[in-house]
Amino acid sequence: MTTHLSKITLFSIMKFPTFKLEEYFSHSEFKASYLMGSSDAESFSLQEILALADDDTRSIWETLRLGYTEVQGSPLLRNEIAHLYPGLQADNILCFAGGEEAIFCTFLSLLNKETHAIVVTPCYQSLHTLALSFAGSVTTIALDEAQGWKLDLDKVKDAIRPNTTLIIFNSPNNPTGALLNEDEVKNLIDIASSHDIYIFSDEAYRLLGRSSLTWDAPVASLYPKAISLSVMSKAFGMAGLRIGWIATQNKELLKSIEFTKHYTSICNSGLSEVVSLIALRAKDIVLKRNCEIIDNNLSILDNFFGDNHTRFSWVHPSGGCVGLVTFNIATPIDIFAQELLDNTGVLIIPGSIFDIEGNTFRIGFGRKNFPEALEKFETYVNRYAKESSYS
Ligand SMILES: Cc1ncc(COP(=O)(O)O)c(C=O)c1O
Repeated sequence: MTTHLSKITLFSIMKFPTFKLEEYFSHSEFKASYLMGSSDAESFSLQEILALADDDTRSIWETLRLGYTEVQGSPLLRNEIAHLYPGLQADNILCFAGGEEAIFCTFLSLLNKETHAIVVTPCYQSLHTLALSFAGSVTTIALDEAQGWKLDLDKVKDAIRPNTTLIIFNSPNNPTGALLNEDEVKNLIDIASSHDIYIFSDEAYRLLGRSSLTWDAPVASLYPKAISLSVMSKAFGMAGLRIGWIATQNKELLKSIEFTKHYTSICNSGLSEVVSLIALRAKDIVLKRNCEIIDNNLSILDNFFGDNHTRFSWVHPSGGCVGLVTFNIATPIDIFAQELLDNTGVLIIPGSIFDIEGNTFRIGFGRKNFPEALEKFETYVNRYAKESSYS
């Protein structure tokens, strides 16, 4: 009887809502010729990354044995990652098979049915739906588009309850490209610390954006109860490695999150760890290339939106390689996006995937072939405008 009941309880806990974005990608990403909605930077070939290896990492690569690896991630890799977090060391870092596993394990550790979480939206879906799955209650705070996707900190303050355990936000934000500034982060930390609440800061797009952008310290370096998330998938353009990590000053918390990883991936791929190590040691080269692609693509986009301001509007993204575009069109965006893909091979992500109302779509400008994709998009929109009643 007990076994039967515990199976039912487990089953009901483990039912998650459809992950709309991943589902959308799963049936369209590999059919598309132009990923104009993707959120990662241009990827590198293995050959290009291995060419960046120093003597030490080349030897590690060549002598790598394909056994299990350390649960926490290789010490060398964690040491390299720790350089990104002032004041933190290798033992403040826990690696995962991508950011998604890090979100899953962290939320599973920190949230339960007695707890309340605050989630800033719109966001990468699992930040919201996994909080909903694991916490007893969740309050969402929407970024304000009219204020340039600003976070209203008073709303965060008002949402706090006695059982609030975690405040979750993502900066640079997916899908808007909004970035919390230094003062906003400081104020958010003040709010969290005065109520002894954890902060989960999804920094997957950190270090990616215009070359001229300067970066404030990651939240994990600033607040003892903060967990910063980052990945090889976005700024480094190496999503296929499936390497992500969390950084926190709180080693006890890190240990409890590590225990949940025993039930998910156990450890990372050794191959991916070594490639990540090489890429992180050469981060100046890797990030420079990706930020320069964004410089170029954003300039093209600014001209495009200038020329087409009656059709499109957006809040200029402050960081990352995505932004949310409002399209002045009568056709529902989901239908338009499907027709666009079928006719041109250009993929955009309808705002409905992020539960955003109206005709909006996410645009991704991290890829080298973005100018070509935008040209195809523009030609199609012009033809569409002529053939339909919309102008
Ligand atoms: C904000 C954000 N966090 C986390 C992830 C997941 O990262 P990964 O692909 O490394 O699992 C994504 C992926 O799109 C994302 O956009």
